[in-house]
Amino acid sequence: MKKKNLAMIGCGTVGQGLLRIIAEKKPDLNVVAISDKLKGAIFDPNGIDVSKMLDVLENDGKIEEYKSASKKAITGLDPIETIKNCNADIMAEMTYTDIETGQPATSYIETALEQGMHVTTSNKGPAALYHAKLAKLAAKNNVQFLIEGTVMSGTPVFNLARETLTGCKITEVKGILNGTTNYILTKMENEGWSYNDALKKAQELGFAEADPTADVEGFDALAKVVILSNYLLEGNIKPDEVPRQGINEISLENIRSAAEEGLRYKLIGSTKLEGESISAYVKPVKLDLSDPLAGVGGATNALTFNTDLLGEVTIQGPGAGKIETGFSIFVDIMTILRQDS
Ligand code: HSE
Repeated sequence: MKKKNLAMIGCGTVGQGLLRIIAEKKPDLNVVAISDKLKGAIFDPNGIDVSKMLDVLENDGKIEEYKSASKKAITGLDPIETIKNCNADIMAEMTYTDIETGQPATSYIETALEQGMHVTTSNKGPAALYHAKLAKLAAKNNVQFLIEGTVMSGTPVFNLARETLTGCKITEVKGILNGTTNYILTKMENEGWSYNDALKKAQELGFAEADPTADVEGFDALAKVVILSNYLLEGNIKPDEVPRQGINEISLENIRSAAEEGLRYKLIGSTKLEGESISAYVKPVKLDLSDPLAGVGGATNALTFNTDLLGEVTIQGPGAGKIETGFSIFVDIMTILRQDS
């Protein structure tokens, strides 16, 4: 069977995490194109040597510094040109999230789907704003549009719902969906750190978004709540319909007085079916310490599914990180390869 070809749009932290996993696990796959706004682009129909490319990128080099053995390699194409010319079977979209517009990622995904490519993305913008439209376009072109990396990075949320909870009706999902804010709250409560010191450390550790306002004011968790609502509860809600409050106004004093009452602040994202409609929010909630979500500390994420057949099922795991989010793209690619063989 002919190896499938992969095009990667965006090759920052997530893209490099994916390349590292491909180099190690050696799936039946040719990486034929990589295009990144900051690092440059290459299309090589004979396949890119992933380990050699990683040597360049992990040393802060540009894609053009990679020496291809193939005479057919072309450099410098922009993302749309790359998608249109690379003849890939699968496109992995891993550019930065713009929660307000979903662009330019949405146009990359539309172009790839129109070319008949399967698409996987870790980008919350297109998934939160245009999931229904993109899923329809994928169905029209007989390909898959998978989004495992948009919520809880590689910890299985959509795979779990789609494969393992098949037959269960999910009526509510609620959880800790942002690692940065959970890290900040944990450091403030356990080690008495100031909000600013904890945020600075979360940025250094690489969990925070390029603009950390998205984390602390709840926009990142909001995008995830919208994605969960529309994908798992089959809703059709938009980000501006969901009440949102972040953790930026929670003081050390608030956290201490909650602890004295035996409670703990967590930034909770929740969405619930109420009859035909959906009721969702993002806000700091004082949880009883017996709540499974109260025990989840640091940058870890957790999600409780409420289902008709099993009651509550809670999962916990990483929600950010290079290998963790790279894995979410890898697992979507494996799903596509399995179903497309
Ligand atoms: N900034 C996000 C977080 C990254 O802290 O959870 C993953 O979406």
